[in-house]
Amino acid sequence: MEVNSMESLDADASLLRIEARNVAFDLSYCDPTHWHDAGLAVSQFFNAMSLFFPKGEKFFIHSVREHRSSVADASLRRDLQGFMQQEAVHSREHRLHIDMLNESGFATDHMDIRMFAQSLNKVSPKRRLAMTIAMEHFTASLAHEILFKDGVMRGDEQMSALWQWHAAEEIEHKAVAFDVFRAAYGDGLASYLSRCRAALEVTFNFMKRLFANFNDLLSQRSTRSTASHWFDLFVFLWISPGLFRRLAPSFLAYFNLSFHPSKRKDFWLVEQWKARNMNTGRRERHNHPQGDRH
Ligand SMILES: [Fe+2]
Ligand SMILES: [Fe+2]
Repeated sequence: MEVNSMESLDADASLLRIEARNVAFDLSYCDPTHWHDAGLAVSQFFNAMSLFFPKGEKFFIHSVREHRSSVADASLRRDLQGFMQQEAVHSREHRLHIDMLNESGFATDHMDIRMFAQSLNKVSPKRRLAMTIAMEHFTASLAHEILFKDGVMRGDEQMSALWQWHAAEEIEHKAVAFDVFRAAYGDGLASYLSRCRAALEVTFNFMKRLFANFNDLLSQRSTRSTASHWFDLFVFLWISPGLFRRLAPSFLAYFNLSFHPSKRKDFWLVEQWKARNMNTGRRERHNHPQGDRH
């Protein structure tokens, strides 16, 4: 189906069911050094990002679950359950991605993979949820680019399928944590200020560690100057396909007083992904189609 016609058929968010697909991906044939078609630098960029997911998604689940009693609406309670189930499976599959990195010789245990600077026990439940809704918006924005822009995620078939599946489910549940935050704390000025503050904080902390870990992974494999790989990543992020350039408007939209994740009508991307992956909802592994491990 054409993109434009899919876009016009964007699903009504209230009718969307958030379902956890118990998928699994076979990464045993994936070359962790060069799995992305854009080369070593971009492969390490997404590897570095993957390192954050198991711990980060566990934190998202915790911060949303501790507000469950504030949610009276039955459909939001159902979505909250779907959100937690989806994030748990994401965490499991990215854990396997990290295991694959470790088995191929990448050292990652020493890396700082906290999305947040403070000890989370010392942070209030409100702030934990505010951090979560900011990260949920950023992952949903990244998900949009992964599913929308052909150049962002192309490479090893199984690895690309993993990121695209994760992206589809991030779009499906993108409003859940935000709606839980509104149910618990309202949408007045105080809530707005606390979500904006949390967004700036997590952006700074996450980016700082993401690029430090990227550089670390790069130095473990690079055979040429690190500067040339940084240049490759710069081109990918800002020029072609320009991932960060494309994400910038979405990032800024978060600071709008009337922001809500569902205002961006992109459920058609999920429908399009479903049409391409009819088997993904079934409980079966995504096995590598053929050939020996390289
Ligand atoms: Fe996720
Ligand atoms: Fe999420």
